Amino acid sequence: MRRMEGKVALVTGAAGGIGRATALRLASEGASLYLVDLADEALAETVALAEKEGAQVVGARCDVSDEADVKKNVASCVERFGKLDALCNVAGILLLDHFPDISVERFRRVLEVNLVGPFMLTQAALPHLLETKGSIVNVSSTSALAGMPYGAAYGTSKGGVSAFTRTIAVEFGKHGVRCNAVNPGSILTAMAGPDVVPKDADYKLIMRAQPLDEPRPPEVVAAVIAMLVSEDGVHINGEEIRVDGGTLA
Ligand SMILES: NC(=O)c1ccc[n+]([C@@H]2O[C@H](COP(=O)([O-])OP(=O)(O)OC[C@H]3O[C@@H](n4cnc5c(N)ncnc54)[C@H](O)[C@@H]3O)[C@@H](O)[C@H]2O)c1
Repeated sequence: MRRMEGKVALVTGAAGGIGRATALRLASEGASLYLVDLADEALAETVALAEKEGAQVVGARCDVSDEADVKKNVASCVERFGKLDALCNVAGILLLDHFPDISVERFRRVLEVNLVGPFMLTQAALPHLLETKGSIVNVSSTSALAGMPYGAAYGTSKGGVSAFTRTIAVEFGKHGVRCNAVNPGSILTAMAGPDVVPKDADYKLIMRAQPLDEPRPPEVVAAVIAMLVSEDGVHINGEEIRVDGGTLA
């Protein structure tokens, strides 16, 4: 399938996990890519892998929580490729804490990266997406839909991402720009490692949210993101798609 031939996509969080899988999936479908992350070395690996797929690729360091960085990178994407067709807001952080221990600083940091980041990227990208009638996919989480123990900051940020997605969808759908979200759960990436669980956590609570079959690799999420930004998703707007193996069915 070469659904993204002639299209330009900007993917955040492209150094690993779901962001890298998304970049490689879009590359294999013919997209030109502007890939950003904070992790320079791992990002360079993604760039090399995407180039192997035959894509034109730029990799750039960008902190999605830094407004100047975000504006600069969206501008240089359009300068390099002449347009923007798809924005994939994948970058995110997961900080888990017992609720009484969450510092305001940590709570704010999670919101800055996971929610303010997609807001700033969307605002910077919108003029260009309006020109191409492009689309946005935000990576939310099952924690936006059901309580996640120790995830007051994370769940709140992802709930915001879901609401933000619907707002953009209704405000710009009539102008041809679609905005959707995916809600992954139990995806095998660096983020999902056991070291993020706080000390003395109640594993019974954590085990409430398990897929019906097994955890899956990030490619299963990338496939849905690729569908949503492609012409196959043309009539899908303001939707959230769970990619969680039935955890919340
Ligand atoms: N893995 C899961 O089970 C799961 C479940 C639900 C949602 N998600 C979401 O999927 C997205 C991708 O996560 P992942 O699982 O691939 O984890 P990951 O840790 O492999 O990838 C996250 C990427 O975001 C980058 N990043 C972090 N802060 C950044 C910043 N300020 N600016 C730019 N880049 C930054 C990291 O360097 C990393 O490459 C996240 O938004 C996450 O919340 C993951």
